[in-house]
Amino acid sequence: MKFDRAAGQNPIDQLHVVGHPLDRIDGRFKTTGTAPYAYERHDVVPHQAYGYIIGSAVAKGRITRMDVARAKAAPGVLAIVTTLDMPALKNGPMNTAKLFGGPEITHYHQATAIVVAETFEQARAAAALIETEYDHDEGQFDLKQAQHAARPVQGANGSRADRVGDFERAFSASAMRLDETYTTPDQTHAMMEPHATLAAWEGEKLTLWTSNQMIAWTRRDIATALGLSKENVRVDSPYIGGGFGGKLFLRSDAVLAALGAKAAGRPVKVALTRPFIMNNTTHRSATIQHIRIGTDRDGRITAIAHESTSGNLPHGRPESAIDQTKLLYAGANRLTAMRLAVLDLPEGNAMRAPGEASGLMALEIAMDEMAERLRMDPVHFRILNDTQVDPEKPGRPFSQRHLVECLERGAEKFGWSHRKARPASVREGEWLIGMGVAAGFRNNLLTKSAARVRLDSQGIVTVETDMTDIGTGTYTILAQTAAEMMGVSIDQVRVVLGDSDFPVSAGSGGQWGANNSAAGVYAACVKLRESVAKKLGLPPAEAQFSGGNVHVGNRVFPLGQAAHEGELVAEDTIEYADVDKRYQQSTFASHFVEVGVNGFTGEVRIRRMLAVCSAGRILNPKTARNQVLGAMTMGSGAALMEELAVDTRRGFFVNHDLAGYEVPVHADIPHQDVIFLDEVDPLSSPMKAKGVGELGLCGVAAAIANAVYNATGVRIRDYPVTLDKHL
Ligand code: MOS
Repeated sequence: MKFDRAAGQNPIDQLHVVGHPLDRIDGRFKTTGTAPYAYERHDVVPHQAYGYIIGSAVAKGRITRMDVARAKAAPGVLAIVTTLDMPALKNGPMNTAKLFGGPEITHYHQATAIVVAETFEQARAAAALIETEYDHDEGQFDLKQAQHAARPVQGANGSRADRVGDFERAFSASAMRLDETYTTPDQTHAMMEPHATLAAWEGEKLTLWTSNQMIAWTRRDIATALGLSKENVRVDSPYIGGGFGGKLFLRSDAVLAALGAKAAGRPVKVALTRPFIMNNTTHRSATIQHIRIGTDRDGRITAIAHESTSGNLPHGRPESAIDQTKLLYAGANRLTAMRLAVLDLPEGNAMRAPGEASGLMALEIAMDEMAERLRMDPVHFRILNDTQVDPEKPGRPFSQRHLVECLERGAEKFGWSHRKARPASVREGEWLIGMGVAAGFRNNLLTKSAARVRLDSQGIVTVETDMTDIGTGTYTILAQTAAEMMGVSIDQVRVVLGDSDFPVSAGSGGQWGANNSAAGVYAACVKLRESVAKKLGLPPAEAQFSGGNVHVGNRVFPLGQAAHEGELVAEDTIEYADVDKRYQQSTFASHFVEVGVNGFTGEVRIRRMLAVCSAGRILNPKTARNQVLGAMTMGSGAALMEELAVDTRRGFFVNHDLAGYEVPVHADIPHQDVIFLDEVDPLSSPMKAKGVGELGLCGVAAAIANAVYNATGVRIRDYPVTLDKHL
């Protein structure tokens, strides 16, 4: 089904089930430990063996020798596969670092071998007996040094920078100027469930029970890596203990479980250990961001420039930290540019809200600084510079944009009027108290998504799609969508997810999952409603679906009657036409934070947080709120503690566990509040919803940094805002 944005009302708008704060339908399975995660798929195939992966001890060079004799002879060992056993495997489009094969080493902890044994302990013990020798090359691991040799990456219009107007001239002519540099560190996803896969072969057919956000990408990429046809690969990932972008791609757990299973002639399961995940998989790359803003005397932005440099392997992309600056504020003269510094660190890739999460950490401090120079309230400064059209393409409006409402509602709810503009002017005992604000922005991506729905004679509706639930609430919102469309209660709906045998969905990434996958279920249900009406001999346009029945006038049929002669099945894909480009689709938020900073130790304590989100229709306020609370928590980590420490001599992340890589715990987060603006975006999809899971993160860290400044008067431009930086 092509989405027709002029279609107006549809059955979702009834909101009998959609839009209600229902509990997760999978909640009981998760809280009772009966939801099977990848490493727990004990029942799907017998004789499972255990794999243990080891990685390179050097960051750059090549392996000259691997001696596996002692490991092979160790108790319980069934097979060993080393990277010298095969040429480099082909990468699909999503992996920019080498996954396995051949002697070349391009980053620390690149997988070099898998040992398969009867038990996990035997596999691990044998792996320690493998002797590896390297030719070791010098590498570049220091972004600060490498930035000088960074190369420009083409902007959207194909040039080395995207320009509108004449930035330099407008900037030097502006009444007020800001010219500052901000840095963000490397970060890791730190999801609860590690990457894990159980692999089994039946002849040429491979099945992967895994933990992955994007089933279709992974099926395609493992087929490419192993030279299989896609039809011979099945990927199944029904439950996922967090991903945050780290599980968007095929990783070594899946590749090596498959290779190990082939070599051992047995199903093999592998979980990456936490210390291995940090360097073997991907991370969010550090950035150095140069921002210049010029305004007139009244505080209107006349010139804005955002240039960001970040590191990656030669085939990788820089962090696109400039994205929001293209769209968030007005201003006639604009410049955005990105540079890639080639580093020999592990692969940088997507982590929750890639681009905007890092970009807003810098831009929204810069906006705070500029407001202060103008002696203007930072909420007012942002409202003054709102734009209702794409500032790079003024003929192109936003489908909807309520940033001003987010700021105004938030300011009122948070008690912003009590904030003292002069920093360090509020004290409570030894604590300095401050408030900060930031805007949030993240794009709303529209991407096709398919689903299948079945109706049985009991009136039970089953939804099947390869869509995933990474903790986001997918099971529940898809059940709500099908229930609304078919006029049944939510307990009449079953949802089965994450299996590549099912129609290909949008997958879970880029906060596009909820809106697009629900729209796919909507499309399939439209078809199912037509077949139900046809079966019952009713005119489809007049059939009403409610209360488990189909009505036309005063004739009533139980829904299941349409399936009495056999199950009804319908499948469809929601698709969006190119005319969508006439509108800019984005989501908006405001973040308000109050902190206390200890006047003696510099310790920062968050006291209150508020997010106000403008993200179209909220399909389930409970699961959506949960997404935003988690995102605000993640943003607190980004602001105050998260940082992968780079060993710039040997080229790896040193703090590669959850003891050294700190993330917030409950005691760090005392009070959070979330408000969703009551809105629908009919230009987005038949669901009239948008994404919200990444929006909740965007801007949080800057609001915290700005609150710390308001508390102390010390401006910290290098994240994380740790106590050593303001003493
Ligand atoms: Mo997201 S970083 O696309 O999971």
